Order: sequence, then C-alpha cells, then structure tokens
Amino acid sequence: MFVAIMGYGVIGSGVAAVLKQNQEKICKRTGLDSIEVKYILDLRTFPGDPNEHLVTSDFNKIVNDPEVKIVVETMGGTKPAFDFVLACLKAGKSVVTSNKELVAAKGYELLKAAKENNVNFMFEASVGGGIPIIRPLTRCLAANEIVEIAGILNGTTNFILTKMITEGMSFEDALAVAQKLGYAERDPSADVDGYDALRKICILASLCYGKHVYPEGIHVEGIRGITAQDVAYAKSIDSVIKLIGSASAIEGSDKINIMVSPAIIRNGSQLASTNDVFNAVLVRGNMVDDVVFYGRGAGSLPTASAVVADVMDCAINSDKTKPFGWEDSTESNAAPYSDFVAPFYVRMAGDKAKVDAAFGASIKYITCENAPCDEIAFTAEPMAVKDLEAKLRATGADVKSVIRITDY
Ligand code: HSE
Repeated sequence: MFVAIMGYGVIGSGVAAVLKQNQEKICKRTGLDSIEVKYILDLRTFPGDPNEHLVTSDFNKIVNDPEVKIVVETMGGTKPAFDFVLACLKAGKSVVTSNKELVAAKGYELLKAAKENNVNFMFEASVGGGIPIIRPLTRCLAANEIVEIAGILNGTTNFILTKMITEGMSFEDALAVAQKLGYAERDPSADVDGYDALRKICILASLCYGKHVYPEGIHVEGIRGITAQDVAYAKSIDSVIKLIGSASAIEGSDKINIMVSPAIIRNGSQLASTNDVFNAVLVRGNMVDDVVFYGRGAGSLPTASAVVADVMDCAINSDKTKPFGWEDSTESNAAPYSDFVAPFYVRMAGDKAKVDAAFGASIKYITCENAPCDEIAFTAEPMAVKDLEAKLRATGADVKSVIRITDY
C-alpha cells in the first residue's frame, strides 16, 4: 500500500522514519504486504535526504494517484492544509493529521467529508503528541459519561513553569532558557498565551461532549502573568501552578465549562508531578473515576508514532468509515466563563479590613517565604467568577493574581 506525506518537517520526516524503521511490524499488524511512502509534498528540497527522490511540490500528483490510499498531513496551519485534506477525502483517500489548528477549526467539516466518501479522517497526534488519548477516549472509555477532562497540553509552558517552580526562575528567564533549548519559538505567543493548549482542549471537548467546540470565544489565559511570588504562595499550600486546559460537564445543563488557564494543583496529583516538556491528560469518567495519560506531547518520533498508528487504523478499516467524531454546533455549548464556579487563590496589594468586609468568612489568608509586606494573599471558597470579581472590585484593591484551584 502507498501513502503520501504532505509536509516534510519535524513530524513528516518522523513519519517516514517510523514507517521505514518499523515496516515489518507495521505490515504484520495491519496484514499488509508492504507500506511505502510514494510522495512527499513540500516546497523545499532536501539534498542528501534518503527520501529526496520522493519530494514533489505538485499536490495534484498525490490527489490524482489512485495507488495512494492514505495521506498524512503534517504541514500545519489551515491554509492550504484544509483545501488539500478536503480534496484528498473527496478523492476517496483517508487522511491522518497531527495538525491541531486544522482539527480545532475544521474538524466537523472534515469528519463529515470523510463519512460522505466512505474513508477516515484521524488525528490522534493532534493532542498530546505521542500520548494515546483520542483513541482511548473514543474506545476504552466509551462507556463513560465524561465528567471532566483536564490536561497539561503544552510542553513549552510546562517546561517554563517547572523552571519557575524548581529553580525559582522568573517567567522571563525561564522563557529565555526554553527559547535557547528550541522549545519556545522566537515569538512564543501560541504557547505562552495558551492558544496551542486551547486548540487541544477544544478537540478533546468536541470528542467528549459530541459537538464541535470552536476555539473562538473560549476563555484563555496564558502564563505571562505568573510570578515567582505566585509560585511561592502555591508552594505554601503544598501545591504547584500548571497551565491547564479543561472541559467539564455542567449538571442539569447541555453546556460545558471549558477554558485554558493557570491552575493551582495540589502536590500528590499526577498533574502536579508532570514536569519539564511532558504532557498529561486526566479523564474523569462517571464509571471509571480518574485515569491519567502521561508522556511526550511533542517531538518527531513520539508524535510520528501516533500518526503512523492512525495510518495503520486507516489501512485496517479501508472499507469503511469508523463511527467517530462529533456534530456541528451553530451555537456554542460553552458556558460563559463568568458563571464558572471554583475555589480561587488571590494575590493583591491591599487592606485586610476591606477584604474582610467584601468576603466575610469565605476566605483563608495564606503567607509564604519572603512575602512582600504590602501584599496579601488568600484562598476563597468556591464561587462564580462574576461573584469573585464583584467582591474584588468592592475591595478597591490592586489585584495582581487570580488563579483557580482544582480538585485533581
Ligand atoms: N509547541 C507545542 C508544545 C508543540 O510546546 O507543546 C506541540 O503541540
């Protein structure tokens, strides 16, 4: 069987390497005589690369070749990835992608096109890189209602926060280290402002709750505002700060809570001990309770191994579309963030008398090593974001940090 790879970057070249290195096992496990890359689509040339002879800049060669049954999209972005993927599906080819931006923006349309053309559109690698999460959610955990799904979905920000927690670095210094090591881009916004994690939690939420959750309008906060002081206060309550993408069902409603934001996680939780560039996803099912998936959320071979597993699934299911996906949503099923209820940590410059007047007994003051004398910090009992904000406004104080506290 022949496959094509569109985009010969970090992941695309990893896909070619995995297919080559594990060819025998892949064939044995899929029942294929052979599985070979026939084309690699890229505008660049790769002199000296063993696959140099497969590289073409002509998409038509791929879409018009009846021998190519499965196409891997590892180009990234939505343009021209969306048009190319749609054309391949319409031409009767299954498509596998690692491209979270594409799935988060166009997943419903592409799943629909796959179904209409009796092929498959799969994207295990789009969330959590090499960590199995999409297939476990849709197969192994399929008998559960998903109460909540929450994860450390971005390795770069987890690396930065780990440096801040374990070495007491500032955000700026930790970011500079991440950039030096090649984890963070020169423009780090997609990672540090939470947009990469947002796309991933939207994909997970779409799968868990059955309707396409589009990233636009979802509450997203990154980690630029987290200071060493916040890290120290979290430590004083035996916790750490992590960037968490989460989605949860709301009892008695067809809406969900979904967001990306820093969160305070108690030490002892598996998410708290997920460090460096590693990712972890916790799934809370109504029957299974909590399960956690942990591993490498990025990187060439880990991510490529998830792509190739999808290629194998497409090969095994070449005669049918697997029942997999979600419905469209013209109206967002995301509840307003202002209604989200949680306990919170607050750090502010302020006057305890005004805080007491606004919050009464619903808060507990906390302190930490080297706490500045002109600041106070407290944890507040669960309340809606809008109520918390109203009380904070009533104090008239300069609020420096507000971070939700999780129960996982
Ligand atoms: N920039 C992403 C991360 C890569 O740091 O996790 C994987 O999506």
